[in-house]
Amino acid sequence: MLDNLQLLELAKKACDNAYAKYSNFHVGACALYESGNYYLGCNVENASYGLTLCAERNAMSNAIVAGEKSKLVKIAIFSKDRTNCMPCGACRQWMAEFAKDNNIQIILESEDSKCAVFTIEELLPYGFEL
Ligand code: THU
Repeated sequence: MLDNLQLLELAKKACDNAYAKYSNFHVGACALYESGNYYLGCNVENASYGLTLCAERNAMSNAIVAGEKSKLVKIAIFSKDRTNCMPCGACRQWMAEFAKDNNIQIILESEDSKCAVFTIEELLPYGFEL
């Protein structure tokens, strides 16, 4: 199982591929599942701004595409440019969807800020469930 530093390193690599020509805010994510498999994502922007896809949701989508059936246990998010990228509300809701026991670690780092770790319960209290 990869550790937090390895996950951040992979997220940093994914960040290099970010397509962020409008915001110039580059983000990479690495989502680790209970199986030990991990999936990468980066943000993908669009001239129609609202169509932008965040790095975290891209990584979790890749897990689904690959047929991942186990639960999400950790997600590392690296942002190249400024401060740590706190995941947006939509990404938090996606994390909760795939999280093991609504209890995952969200690991953040950027070029300018050091590593910080949160749980999904801290970032999405009273999240929507069906
Ligand atoms: N972004 C992410 O990739 N993840 C987040 O959780 C927040 C925002 C991206 C989307 C957009 O390309 C850029 O950061 C600025 O909003």
